[in-house]
Amino acid sequence: MSDERYLTFALGKGRLARRTMELFEEIGITCEEMKDKESRKLIFVNEAMKLRFFLAKGPDVPTYVEYGAADIGVVGRDTILEENRNVYEVLDLGYGKCRMCVCGPASARELLQHHERIRVASKYPDIARDYFYNKKHQTVDIIKLNGSVELGPLVELSDVIVDIVETGSTLRENGLEVLEEVCPLSARMIVNPVSMQMENARIQKLVADIRNRLENGW
Ligand code: PRP
Repeated sequence: MSDERYLTFALGKGRLARRTMELFEEIGITCEEMKDKESRKLIFVNEAMKLRFFLAKGPDVPTYVEYGAADIGVVGRDTILEENRNVYEVLDLGYGKCRMCVCGPASARELLQHHERIRVASKYPDIARDYFYNKKHQTVDIIKLNGSVELGPLVELSDVIVDIVETGSTLRENGLEVLEEVCPLSARMIVNPVSMQMENARIQKLVADIRNRLENGW
């Protein structure tokens, strides 16, 4: 019955998707079609297992999952928090580890301590707003940027930024530093709430298999 239906996965394009497929291979889920670099196909299928995979821009993954266009998604926690979609987060996959931080020049530390009305540039305006307004109770002006956010304080667009820090080298090379940590991040698996009910056994087995593989040191 339910095994007749395809289970569809939306994966955040790039390194995240490659790492996810490596993990899936470890638990016997493969998709040969996806390995063909020449292919222009957008949807890849494993007929035998009744699985479909497609690659999407990270911020679109929770959208596909919320609407049920994908049953399952894999995307960074930063995107899940920013998009705030109606999806279940079922698993921390442990890779893609980094931190969401407030960063800026050392001189901005004082502005943060004194709860001054500062300008905050970010690709993640909702995460930044939630952090300053709800956690710190500090009124700030949020400026949305789409990338190279570190430029903000360098060209005096903003006092600080809220951005992802992985190795910290972008900050170091630009004379900026971590001033406060907002939250830890990593890749997460999300599930459509209706799929979770309709395909419960298959999804629970998948989650259990992955969790088991992760616990055994993948
Ligand atoms: C991300 C992030 C930082 C950088 C952090 O940017 O926004 O700029 O990586 O990594 P690091 O701590 O290892 O230096 P990304 O490369 O995704 O590009 P973007 O700035 O255009 O968003």
